[in-house]
Amino acid sequence: MPLTVVVGGFFGDEGKGKIVSYLALKDKIDIAVRTGSVNAGHTVVWNNVTYRLRLIPSAFVYENARLLIAAGANVNPKILLEEIEMTKTHGRVGIDHQASIIEEHHIEEDRSDQYLSKNIGTTGQGVGPAIADRVRRKAKLAKDIPELGKYLTDVALEVNEAVDNGKKVILEGTQATFLSLYHGTYPYVTGRDTTASAICSEVGVGPKKVDEVLVVFKAYVTRVGGGPLPNELTLEEIEKRGWIEKGTVTGRIRRVAPFNIEYAKRAIMLNSATQIAITKIDALFPECRGMKQFEELPQEAKKYVEWIEEELKTPVTLIGTGAEIEDIIDLRKDKCKHG
Ligand code: IMP
Ligand code: MG
Repeated sequence: MPLTVVVGGFFGDEGKGKIVSYLALKDKIDIAVRTGSVNAGHTVVWNNVTYRLRLIPSAFVYENARLLIAAGANVNPKILLEEIEMTKTHGRVGIDHQASIIEEHHIEEDRSDQYLSKNIGTTGQGVGPAIADRVRRKAKLAKDIPELGKYLTDVALEVNEAVDNGKKVILEGTQATFLSLYHGTYPYVTGRDTTASAICSEVGVGPKKVDEVLVVFKAYVTRVGGGPLPNELTLEEIEKRGWIEKGTVTGRIRRVAPFNIEYAKRAIMLNSATQIAITKIDALFPECRGMKQFEELPQEAKKYVEWIEEELKTPVTLIGTGAEIEDIIDLRKDKCKHG
């Protein structure tokens, strides 16, 4: 997979962190780039340790991967430096000179603004106000922060050169399609476009260089904060189905609905998906937990996957069967060009 974009298909928390970390280890990728900001928490469970990453690319688990943060990303320097420490990735992190900076006053504004905190239900991390300052051309950039000095780099140049030299690069999107400022359920969205094209734009790589767009769906839909969620389940029903989840960043209980095929179709279109990953299939069919071969799946689970492929006219290449990175069925060899 030369250049792969990984994007969420619903409202975030589909399990992009797990998918990206799996690809990094399996494909021995050369570069991973994180977009977005600290509002997004990507969970990676590796060797029984749970990492909740808010800026470091989930590919950090592969020790030779270069870990970059895009020019379009919004960096909270304190959180980034803590994560570099936690993941011991000092020697391989690079931050684009032009990534913008979240300051304390952005966080205060996000939390004290009633409209943002109550109506929209933001994560309170200052991301929206920081982006607004960037639009006003008042934001500080990474190059203005001495503590980030030794990590500064030209991410667009690194990525384009790597792709031209046949290296393997993953662009890790954050949030998801329907939290997009342009294509989501406005105004209940995040402060930026989150679709595949926007991920490329944040990094500085053009659409012609993209080989694969992998859209990640969870076996059910979750959302945190306000906004529509068709067929939303009651708390009682969520508990009964064992689909209870808490937000990685905010700890809020996530709202839940069953898999939504209409949303999925639109996500495939908006991102020009070439592949699909389905995570947490074990939440629908508990017998699947930990399975690694498609043939092992119960008949019902196979039918479910085939139904999704038929409806979405796109191959399901990865199926998540548990929380650990290795709990996955990988069908890329049979089903995709760059497998
Ligand atoms: P903001 O991105 O903090 O401004 O929040 C705007 C909306 O996007 C709120 O509904 C948040 O709960 C939601 N949101 C932001 N980031 C994430 C994420 O990583 N996962 C899920 N929802 C998110
Ligand atoms: Mg998350």
